[in-house]
Amino acid sequence: MRRTLTEQKRHFRWWLLSALVLMQFSANSADLLTNIPGRKTTSLNGKWQYIIDIYETGFYDYRYKERAEGDPEAYWNTDVPANSLDRKEHGYNDKYTLNVPGDWNSQADKFLYYEGSVWYKRNFDYQKTNRDNKLYIYFGAVSYRADVYLNGKKLGMHKGAFSPFNFEIPQELLKEKGNFLVIKVDNRRYANEIPTLNTDWWNYGGIIRDVSLVEVPNQFISNYFIQLAKPNQGAKLINGWVDVKNATKNQQVTVDIPELKISQNFTVNAAGRAAIKINAAKLTLWSMENPKLYQVNISTTSDKVGEKIGFRHIEVQGEKILLNNKPIFLRGISIHSEIPEEARRANTQKDAEKLLGWARELGCNMVRLAHYPHDEKMTRLADSLGLLVWSEIPVYWTIDFKSQEVFEKAKTQLDEMIDRDKNRASIIIWSVGNETPVSETRTNFMKNLLEEARKQDPTRLVSAALEVNYHSEENMRWIDDPLGAYVDVVSFNQYLGWYGGTPESCRTANWGTHYKKPLFISETGAEAVGGYHADAKQLWSEEFQEWYYVEQVAMLKRMPSNFVGISPWLLADFRSPRRNNPVYQEGWNNKGLFDQKGRKKKAFYILKAYYDELAKKYQ
Ligand code: GCU
Repeated sequence: MRRTLTEQKRHFRWWLLSALVLMQFSANSADLLTNIPGRKTTSLNGKWQYIIDIYETGFYDYRYKERAEGDPEAYWNTDVPANSLDRKEHGYNDKYTLNVPGDWNSQADKFLYYEGSVWYKRNFDYQKTNRDNKLYIYFGAVSYRADVYLNGKKLGMHKGAFSPFNFEIPQELLKEKGNFLVIKVDNRRYANEIPTLNTDWWNYGGIIRDVSLVEVPNQFISNYFIQLAKPNQGAKLINGWVDVKNATKNQQVTVDIPELKISQNFTVNAAGRAAIKINAAKLTLWSMENPKLYQVNISTTSDKVGEKIGFRHIEVQGEKILLNNKPIFLRGISIHSEIPEEARRANTQKDAEKLLGWARELGCNMVRLAHYPHDEKMTRLADSLGLLVWSEIPVYWTIDFKSQEVFEKAKTQLDEMIDRDKNRASIIIWSVGNETPVSETRTNFMKNLLEEARKQDPTRLVSAALEVNYHSEENMRWIDDPLGAYVDVVSFNQYLGWYGGTPESCRTANWGTHYKKPLFISETGAEAVGGYHADAKQLWSEEFQEWYYVEQVAMLKRMPSNFVGISPWLLADFRSPRRNNPVYQEGWNNKGLFDQKGRKKKAFYILKAYYDELAKKYQ
């Protein structure tokens, strides 16, 4: 179909804009390094000095013009006076320090609601083991925008609060002693970012996950994807690829799986990528009952990296989800990346053990890591616990769906999520968003994200938490969101009895979808203040939440045959600026089954009983 002249012009403008946006992004973050835990790293965690800069004084001069690189008043330049007359009106001092990793909101009262820029600074010494090696600085996540400077030079900028990124440190910039490292972190919200201006979670700011220096040889294994192929390609066929940076012609790559006595060589192509195919007939499949992980080592003449990887099949057949060719039922729970007792972002191994430990106490075999990629320790721990994972990007609520620039931002965050966790057996579903309002523009935006997810990773399922767009016919509530046509699993959030109706309404409610696909309830829940006990008809009491779950569970037992699971909202109470009932909320969303002190509420036991029953049925 030929385009009219105006359509051609519009198409060209769109193409030009996306090319410019891509250049801007690609100019900044280098390819993401794979498997940091498998690398020799130097941690930069610890106390960093800071300056709160609500007026952006460190970035703009008094005429609000961006400061030149060498501007002595720029906060990325040294704060040490050259002599007694050298006037410095910025400085880093041990009187002002923040822990890294960690959100700033939970570290001092003055930061609780702070939205703006904070300049973090620390010094470090570093001597490379070999001058030809490359040195990167790697961030687990910085919320929301990070501008990174070393010794007065800009290394790069990254946007996105929950995905990792790294920058190479040029040899000529690195000093053996006294490197001056400055990160400007800005957590302000904007309509054209991902997420947008409003969410139902706290806008934690800061360097919220680990920071490390990663030294690799000049020629190194920069990325790899090693998972089982789809079952129809061979029951135990390991398929994938390995990328080698600065590979020589016909560079050899060796993949070892010692426990299976496998050691195979592969040759890179002109682009430095080696296609991997290994027939691992003796391989034990990863499963929830037996989360078998194999040490996989990848090496070239100059580099070696390894990690534990599980191999399993996940697919949809008709209206079922099959794990290793067996239908499964997902006994899930939604989780925010937050520790309730300390009201802070979760980012340690102990945090991961606590949250996933609570999920296992509940009888879960699956967790929905809402609404953004969690710390990598969560997905690696899920691998070893045999917990299935739904991982999601924060395309949440009313994103600016008509903007190509916003689409590129969502796509970047999707790529970063998949890139980091593509070798995690536990992850079975990539979700491209949550409760986005139905419109043709939005459905197109989300469809394109689903296509991107499948392109980046053809082995996993894709979905999104749809809003309940249903029409009632004699109490039938049909999930007929047009996005359902493009997902593998039709997932929806319903709060019947909390947002609309009362728990009794569940007794006559029926749900269904005309999509011949698995049906999953990605959220349901009601608030209760931990320790508040009253009659079940008293909203906000634990007894009301318990009654809500009794009625919901009875309704779930009447779901249609394509019902494959649920991840109620949610594991633990969490902070939200939207929740302002002065008695029952006070800036908290109390839908947790664990309360703000980490105690189980009565509803916990209702859901647990349901899950224990299901575990027996699906033995
Ligand atoms: C929505 C949303 C959650 C939110 C929850 C609630 O479904 O997906 O992020 O916290 O409902 O209202 O508590």
